[in-house]
Amino acid sequence: MDELSHRSETIAPEIIAHYSEGVEQDRLLRNRSRLEYARTQELLRRHLPEPPATILDVGGGPGVYACWLASEGYEVHLVDAVPLHVEQALRASEAQPGCPLASVRLGDARQLLQADASADVVLLLGPLYHLTERQDRLQALGEAKRVVRPAGLVFAVGISRFASLLDGLMSEYLDDPAFARIVEQDLATGQHRNPTNHPGYFTTAFLHHPDELQREVREAGLKVVEIVGLEGPGGWLVHDFESWWSNPERRVHLLSAARAVEHEPSLLGLSAHLLVVARKD
Ligand SMILES: C[S@@+](CC[C@H](N)C(=O)[O-])C[C@H]1O[C@@H](n2cnc3c(N)ncnc32)[C@H](O)[C@@H]1O
Repeated sequence: MDELSHRSETIAPEIIAHYSEGVEQDRLLRNRSRLEYARTQELLRRHLPEPPATILDVGGGPGVYACWLASEGYEVHLVDAVPLHVEQALRASEAQPGCPLASVRLGDARQLLQADASADVVLLLGPLYHLTERQDRLQALGEAKRVVRPAGLVFAVGISRFASLLDGLMSEYLDDPAFARIVEQDLATGQHRNPTNHPGYFTTAFLHHPDELQREVREAGLKVVEIVGLEGPGGWLVHDFESWWSNPERRVHLLSAARAVEHEPSLLGLSAHLLVVARKD
């Protein structure tokens, strides 16, 4: 495996510090994030070409999607800006010797080392919401466009502008005036900052309005195939998520509810995560 280290652009130190606590290791396998994971897998299955195709997972974190895709027969390359995630992804890859990742690199979405048109698919399931400047997000999308082949796909995820408001109600964080101030700024500008040391309040991010995310993808020169609200209403509205998720029939309800309104413009922002599937002409 190619394990080149690559230092280029830097991301905010508080983002590195947040992820260096190890919060991402099994996030997708716990609590409400399991709905995000299941729905993202569903959307990937909906659009990915048959294996073997080459997938570049930019901001791939500890490699949960990358390792799953490698086990499905894809050639998967992972890039992430956080050293702990690169180490965790390497370990996860080593733990599946029959289908390891093709490469794992420290790097930045705004300056990829990959050659032009070298991937069939690029995943950006994370970097866009940590790039708080529009110009940086356009640069990351431009890099994705550069490395994907003509007619290849880019999957770009944003966090909804309304996610912290909804989380504040569901998790009762709004009882804390400091969180209420965070939400106020999120709604006004999308610029999420966490001046407290509460890890549940997340870290420096930009929260997209669904229209804004699509505009940025188009401005980068990609064609929007679809924008989908990932979690749908069940992401917030189900009180005892655990009992719903562990009950097979109720789990189907959660997934069906998300699917039923996944394109509904008036409800897109209700999902915590927005996924744009885009094509390079
Ligand atoms: C919430 S995690 C998501 C990880 C994984 N893609 C997933 O969907 O579960 C966000 C990821 O984006 C990475 N990231 C943030 N900014 C980045 C950048 N500029 N370039 C590369 N990776 C970045 C972080 O290190 C982190 O691994």
